[in-house]
Amino acid sequence: MTEPKKLFVKTYGCQMNVYDSERMAEALSGQGYEQVGSAEEADMILLNTCHIREKASEKIYSELGRLKPLRDDNPNVKIGVAGCVAQAEGEEIMRRQPIVDLVVGPQTYHRLPAMMRAVEAGEKALDTDFPEEDKFLHLPKDRRAKRGPCAFLTVQEGCDKFCAFCVVPYTRGAEVSRPVARILGEARDLVERGVREITLLGQNVNAYHGQDEDGREWGLARLIRELAKIEDLARIRFTTSHPNDMEDDLIAAFGDCDKLMPYLHLPVQSGSDRILKAMNRKHTAQDYLDLIARIRDARPDLLLSGDFIVGFPGETDEDFAQTMDLVRKVNYGQAYSFKYSARPGTPAAERADVAPEIADSRLQELQALLTEQQRAAQDGMVGRELPVLFEKHGRQEGQLIGKSGYLHSVHAVAPAELIGQVAMVRIIKSATNSLTGALV
Ligand code: SAH
Ligand code: SF4
Ligand code: F3S
Repeated sequence: MTEPKKLFVKTYGCQMNVYDSERMAEALSGQGYEQVGSAEEADMILLNTCHIREKASEKIYSELGRLKPLRDDNPNVKIGVAGCVAQAEGEEIMRRQPIVDLVVGPQTYHRLPAMMRAVEAGEKALDTDFPEEDKFLHLPKDRRAKRGPCAFLTVQEGCDKFCAFCVVPYTRGAEVSRPVARILGEARDLVERGVREITLLGQNVNAYHGQDEDGREWGLARLIRELAKIEDLARIRFTTSHPNDMEDDLIAAFGDCDKLMPYLHLPVQSGSDRILKAMNRKHTAQDYLDLIARIRDARPDLLLSGDFIVGFPGETDEDFAQTMDLVRKVNYGQAYSFKYSARPGTPAAERADVAPEIADSRLQELQALLTEQQRAAQDGMVGRELPVLFEKHGRQEGQLIGKSGYLHSVHAVAPAELIGQVAMVRIIKSATNSLTGALV
């Protein structure tokens, strides 16, 4: 038997990259690669990258700089760049950093095994096509491996929305939904391997419109209801959604599908209609508020999460005040906020930036408010009895860590057999990043 080759994968960016990294590692395990926990041990180092903001992109070049001495010591170590930076910059990566042997965009991962053979033979390999075929169909799967209780499952990829600031439509390509049967098959397989919670992924997951075997189109709500029939699957989540694709049956599912968790990430980006228009979001602040009201009608305890950009080109104090106002009206339980970062090739990159110190102070002000809301939402859990899906051992002896339906981390003293199960926990304390409770 030959020694297994060692693969180290480092993942940046969104959950879809986490999912893709798992698929790539599975594909390469068919080629004798075993995953290791550090670059130093590896024969192959694969960076799965994110291009969303300048900082995210530049991180990759500093990481490659750090890997250079390792490569200089051992020229047999191979280095690959996958993901959205690979798609956006292609060959430029190899020019800027010649230690890179392989560049592979998100839509060609099924070609990775063949590319690896070329790299092992001492060649360079680059593929950033947008092929017609389904990349997941061709990725060999390791169906035996046991899985933890929570898993991601990509159902839709790419984006046709072209928000003026965003690189995703260019790095992930056009919106594509995977067929219903393949998603159901993959979900059943995950559940057989121990998964109890599935988060459906898509850049615009609520625009899902996959075909069933009779060629009929299913929306996300129908898919969720079908997945809910898998007996040992306890929880379903989905991310990320666009307000314009939040259809009635999906809203209704929050009210009548027990397995769909009461948490929704619904980015709005800004509370100013002028800025929303300039961002090409195609909805107003009021449209968003009305939508939230309808979703909360269906599920009053829903915990809402959002994304915000401050300092978008042309944003005035008044525009920003409207964002603060919207945040106060919505009351978020979770949120992510960013300073606008001009991305090459996007329409907004041509426009004049807001002064960086103004953007900084707006970001601070917004984050203070969002943090306050997040705190209040988390603290408000104290005294409640919540179902918790236990995922793993905690740091303290005898303690397990899991998540509530609202996605808060919960610690409780509990027997190890409860890992992978949902149990009721009375919440006793709220700390900075987690809740503590006791089994009921
Ligand atoms: N598909 C998802 C999100 C994609 S990126 C959606 O439509 O919501 C995640 C978040 O990053 C976005 O919601 C946005 O808030 C932020 N973002 C994207 N491009 C950005 C940019 N150029 N500058 C700053 N933040 C950005
Ligand atoms: Fe980017 Fe907008 Fe598409 Fe989200 S909807 S991925 S922010 S272009
Ligand atoms: Fe980043 Fe690409 Fe995801 S740019 S956020 S890794 S889709």
